[in-house]
Amino acid sequence: MLREVAATRYIEPLRSGGSVPGVVEADDLGTYVVKFTGSAQGRKALVAEVIVGELARALGLRFPELVLVHFDPAIADGEPHQEVRDLHASSAGVNLGMDYLPGARDFTPEVAKVFRVDPLEAGRIVWLDALTANVDRTVHSSNLMVWPTLGTVPPRLWLIDHGAALVFHHRWDGSDPQKAYDFRHHALGHYGPDVRAADAELAPKVTEELLREILAEVPDAWLTDFDSPGEARAAYVTYLHARVRASRQWLPTDFPSREELAAEEALRAARTQQGRPKWLQRVPDLHGKPAAEQDWSVHLQ
Ligand SMILES: Nc1ncnc2c1ncn2[C@@H]1O[C@H](COP(=O)(O)OP(=O)(O)OP(=O)(O)O)[C@@H](O)[C@H]1O
Ligand SMILES: [Mg+2]
Repeated sequence: MLREVAATRYIEPLRSGGSVPGVVEADDLGTYVVKFTGSAQGRKALVAEVIVGELARALGLRFPELVLVHFDPAIADGEPHQEVRDLHASSAGVNLGMDYLPGARDFTPEVAKVFRVDPLEAGRIVWLDALTANVDRTVHSSNLMVWPTLGTVPPRLWLIDHGAALVFHHRWDGSDPQKAYDFRHHALGHYGPDVRAADAELAPKVTEELLREILAEVPDAWLTDFDSPGEARAAYVTYLHARVRASRQWLPTDFPSREELAAEEALRAARTQQGRPKWLQRVPDLHGKPAAEQDWSVHLQ
């Protein structure tokens, strides 16, 4: 079972995350990134976080510990922004916490230029994302972190943020477990991911028993798509097990090189630019990249 802790101190919101997670300290003296039940992404994002994160861990990938965090909005009454206060108010009770990796760096395209990733490790991560239909590990939004960044231990890749995975749970009927997704822009696509070796190694490990164990970690209150939490758990197990057995149908293999990606991006930007009226042509084309640096200064006063 996931450990349970109670948040004792609210430190700051992580405004770079679309769901505005909060960094908190808890009664076990740990520091956690809390994803709130009241966020616009909803409880399904938390279900996906638990299932995909625990699957990653079971398959030997690096993924910070998850805990259930009891959160009382009163501990964050110094938060100045009303929208964040509203988020907290609608999230009283049990939320999802991820162990905070101090000093970790986002795996951005700049970091990727100098950071080596072994093709087998890249293959394992791409394979997990393809199995779990995780469409949010792209070049511009990698949801990968490099850690530790201090000390003598070499930095390694850590997975975070699986809230956008399991796209099938937004449309249970009509979602085909054999469906292939477009992973050409995967954050690790240009490391030559050995997805075939990863498939041979990992597919046999994703048994129904393992999936049942993982589903048991998801709190009942977040499983509301079916008549009972038990039925919901069975639906996830059946779907993911059918999908892992059909891996040949969805195994992604067509990855562009870094140069091909850059050329595609330049072409796309040029087309967008051409299609714009004159008065809009000076607005930069960001293609999914953040529009501006976040303003952190409000939290430094
Ligand atoms: N465990 C962690 N340790 C350190 N930093 C973290 C951790 N989890 C998240 N972060 C930081 O917070 C940012 C936002 O986190 P995350 O991507 O999980 O949030 P999100 O709201 O799901 O974001 P989005 O959906 O916009 O990608 C990350 O890009 C990373 O910089
Ligand atoms: Mg993210």
